[in-house]
Amino acid sequence: MSLSDLERAKKRVLMFGGKGGVGKTTTSASTALHFALEGRRTLIISSDLTPSLSDIFETQIGPTETPIPGVANLWGLEIDPDEVMRRWKIKFGPQIYEASQVFVDMPYDDLVDYVAMAPGIQEEFMLDFILEQVRDHGYDLVVWDTAPAGDTLRLLELPYKFLNHLRTAPRVYLGVRDKLQLSKMPFLELIDSWRELSEEITAFFRDPANTEFILVTIPEALGVYQARRLVGEFAEFGLTIEHMIVNHLITDPDSDFLCRRQAMQRPYLELLQNAYAGQMNITRLPLFAEEIKGTERLGMVEELLFPS
Ligand SMILES: Nc1ncnc2c1ncn2[C@@H]1O[C@H](COP(=O)(O)OP(=O)(O)O)[C@@H](O)[C@H]1O
Ligand SMILES: [Mg+2]
Repeated sequence: MSLSDLERAKKRVLMFGGKGGVGKTTTSASTALHFALEGRRTLIISSDLTPSLSDIFETQIGPTETPIPGVANLWGLEIDPDEVMRRWKIKFGPQIYEASQVFVDMPYDDLVDYVAMAPGIQEEFMLDFILEQVRDHGYDLVVWDTAPAGDTLRLLELPYKFLNHLRTAPRVYLGVRDKLQLSKMPFLELIDSWRELSEEITAFFRDPANTEFILVTIPEALGVYQARRLVGEFAEFGLTIEHMIVNHLITDPDSDFLCRRQAMQRPYLELLQNAYAGQMNITRLPLFAEEIKGTERLGMVEELLFPS
């Protein structure tokens, strides 16, 4: 099994996760390039705050899909939490306002801002947004370069948290006390319709036929620790990680310094191999001397990740 299996499997969303600086953007951009070259209409989305796709593709990429120059079938999009929130308000704001009219007298912006603060709402919308891309916008594949802080897996659980929060909101926060009256509220009907949406989203992302999670890590103590944590958390949710990329490997040391670095990495690489080689595909990626920028260099990484 290798990363190339993803091609045959025709997954719709590939999520790259791991701690900051391990190479998520580099490997997800190379992967997106690979599938675009194979002829699949591919959209790479980065939700990491640090502007990353623009740097790596050396072209200005913003919150709307931008074709990557010189690569057919490849588009990029960078979306930060503020933009996610802005779009969420446009999509759901009027509904929320209307449904809340019966029990709360608050200006539109205050009310929508208030509801938008519910925990998990950003994540919920991010998933909704990505699902829209593959379902309605004609992409064969979305490669998602996730933000390190937004603990990727929590995304799959948060819609529920968020809905539970909203369910109690009118009673707890808005001073509506009568339970009987509450049950007939349009606000609760709205929440029910959101729950359905949320379940649909969660089901899509939890289905291994649609979504694959690729864990990116490095052979250092922190990298091993992080891998262990993520694999454990996935298991708790009944999900398995099938692909790991171990990046930054020193392969041909030609100095004392690099030899020592390689010796530092070796036990951690062995730890990762021993712990996970039985249950997932581990792809090793060497540390390049050059900076990995532009489609030509990304092509070098692509060839290593997807050897023909
Ligand atoms: N295999 C590699 N060889 C050389 N440089 C790398 C490699 N992988 C990543 N880098 C560099 O390391 C830095 C962090 O990588 P990046 O992909 O941005 O990580 P992340 O998205 O996980 O924060 C970038 O400057 C990138 O060019
Ligand atoms: Mg990044």
